[in-house]
Amino acid sequence: MSTVALIPAAGRGERLGAGLPKAFVDLAGHSMLHHAVRGVQASGVVDAVVLSVPIDLVDQVRSQFSEVIVVAGGAERSDSVRAALSAAPPSDVVLVHDAARALTPQTLFVDVVAAVMAGAPAVVPGLPVVDTIKSVDPAGTVTGTVDRGPLRAVQTPQGFDSAMLSAAYAALAHSADGAQFTDDAGLVEAQGIPVRIIPGDPMAFKITTPWDLQLATWLLHERTR
Ligand code: CTP
Ligand code: MG
Repeated sequence: MSTVALIPAAGRGERLGAGLPKAFVDLAGHSMLHHAVRGVQASGVVDAVVLSVPIDLVDQVRSQFSEVIVVAGGAERSDSVRAALSAAPPSDVVLVHDAARALTPQTLFVDVVAAVMAGAPAVVPGLPVVDTIKSVDPAGTVTGTVDRGPLRAVQTPQGFDSAMLSAAYAALAHSADGAQFTDDAGLVEAQGIPVRIIPGDPMAFKITTPWDLQLATWLLHERTR
């Protein structure tokens, strides 16, 4: 069975605020995108990689990574995933993995692919929520405390049966707005497909804010010390 990894890397990185697209920000000497691509390849369970990047950076990225397919992303994350999916070679399994989860351990790729190959149509790593979660009204007054027991904070890589994911994206093209889906499992859920959660990994955290970038830099230096 073959596996393709799609890496959406076309976001602007507004919350990081580094003045350039987030995947191209330096993380301990290499771009976040470089770390993400090398992490996927090192897992040994992926046969081909497709990147979606900002349109003005397509040529630069093509020259940087000769062994991957590079396409222009879109306005929403789901547009970038769709573009990568359209350019992907045929496969049994598709992984979708945020470039911003640059430190994801190889074992997580292995575990997600294994679970899809074992028969789950959609597999997502997730961690229990540790904080107490409150709902609030627009004025900032607490309206309730959410039971965190059944909650999971989900990560990538998310793994899918290829034909099922392509069908889910085709259905999206005919109906709802992709902006409502911040991950691919959400799109699949909307199609009524069961999504399996497997244990996530703290190192698969998403670099979103300057704090996350500092943490990732420190963790990489510790790893190589
Ligand atoms: N992404 C993408 N295309 C978009 C938006 C996001 O390929 N139009 C990618 C990002 O590059 C990132 C992943 O989806 O690897 C997760 O998105 P997020 O962490 O939200 O990244 P950004 O959208 O870049 O950040 P922000 O929301 O702070 O602007
Ligand atoms: Mg975003």
